[in-house]
Amino acid sequence: MTDKSLRVLIVGSGGREHAILKACKASPLVASVVVAPGNGGMESEARCCPVNVSDVPAVVALAKDLGVNFVVVGPEAPLSLGLVDALSESGIPAYGPKKSGAILEASKAFSKDFLVRHGIPTARAAKFSSSAEAVKYLETQSFPIVIKASGLAAGKGVVIAENYEDARAAVCDMLDEKCFGSAGSEILIEEFMAGEEASIMLMVCGEKYVMLPPSQDHKRVGEGDTGPNTGGMGAYAPAGVVTPEVERAVVKKIVEPTLRGLKAEGIDYRGTLYVGIMITAEGPKVVEFNVRFGDPECQVLLPLLASDPVELMYRCATGTLDPAAARFHGGFNVVVVLAAQGYPGKAKTGDIISFPKEIPAGTGIIHSGTKRTASGEIATAGGRVLGITARGETLSRALQNAYALVAQVKFDGMHFRRDIGARQLRRDNNS
Ligand code: AMP
Ligand code: GLY
Repeated sequence: MTDKSLRVLIVGSGGREHAILKACKASPLVASVVVAPGNGGMESEARCCPVNVSDVPAVVALAKDLGVNFVVVGPEAPLSLGLVDALSESGIPAYGPKKSGAILEASKAFSKDFLVRHGIPTARAAKFSSSAEAVKYLETQSFPIVIKASGLAAGKGVVIAENYEDARAAVCDMLDEKCFGSAGSEILIEEFMAGEEASIMLMVCGEKYVMLPPSQDHKRVGEGDTGPNTGGMGAYAPAGVVTPEVERAVVKKIVEPTLRGLKAEGIDYRGTLYVGIMITAEGPKVVEFNVRFGDPECQVLLPLLASDPVELMYRCATGTLDPAAARFHGGFNVVVVLAAQGYPGKAKTGDIISFPKEIPAGTGIIHSGTKRTASGEIATAGGRVLGITARGETLSRALQNAYALVAQVKFDGMHFRRDIGARQLRRDNNS
């Protein structure tokens, strides 16, 4: 691969895609980069082309028009619709699994069966498409219990029910009331796993992979893990809860059997495999698979790579990954998400954002839900608006740097969690 040989198209519009854009801007391999559709912040760094990311023929046509020779697909929806298959038919390499691999996220029923088939540790579960049968099953179960829509429900299709009544209501909402549409026409009822969660992100090229440092997201909207679930209010890496011993178990019992299983089933997986794990008393177990980088985890992980993330992605896509060549920086990265009023419910939009004049070295501002107004200002345009990132030799230094920058950003109704990384800080203080 030679310098300035890649003309890249990034598909998506969130914080994850902005982090990928920053990696492209920093990569010596990249000659040009376009984002589709992008957001208000990305517009000042790259050309952004409007497109519906779920319209596969439109994205392929755009890639051809632009004459790109590499596409990075950010979100799961176009992956599950076969965007990478279509690009590959047009001779354009793309980072992200084909439809056959994306089903690991698109169907929780498929991924549960896959885990069971390959003897990979996960919560016990049963599948239902009839509410009468599901309710009968609930009568034999203990609580809490987890009810999941099988299909893609934008991160909202999981209910942890504390008792029979709540579980029954969730089952009926999904199967009878179709509260998640067709994503909930099949559900899983799953054993509740107690423990601490962590995210394991792998850059996969068939059976070869680079494992990025473990990270931890903060899914609840409120401090102390209270309130409704969100797409993620902040993240940090590396996450110490994944001790070397846990990591060894993850590799032996989860990662290797998963990649072997994919191969055995004829799935040539290339792209990110995100393994959500629960660290239980019996060891790590799979909570879910996602087939793309986590958002906001991506924002802390790509900058921890000392190797060029674009080169790794390109090598995964083209079958030339050399895992031994991957290098990482020391220290810690954090991201604090600044959300709009109302998020994770209906978010207020259109508020002008005031930014700091200077951004100190080692910190950054990632745009998620923003747009540029006619007068050139940046306004809120989504639930998660910005991600404030920072590095530090220690986690507490990284957090100090991030929150110092957070204090200089303002928009009406802005809210964020003040306790990103707090679990690990407590752990560090107790050890
Ligand atoms: P998922 O979309 O499958 O990741 O589920 C969303 C969130 O629900 C996870 O991040 C966990 O916090 C929680 N969750 C899912 N499944 C379980 C389970 N079996 N036991 C405990 N918590 C779970
Ligand atoms: N941060 C969780 C996710 O991307 O699914």
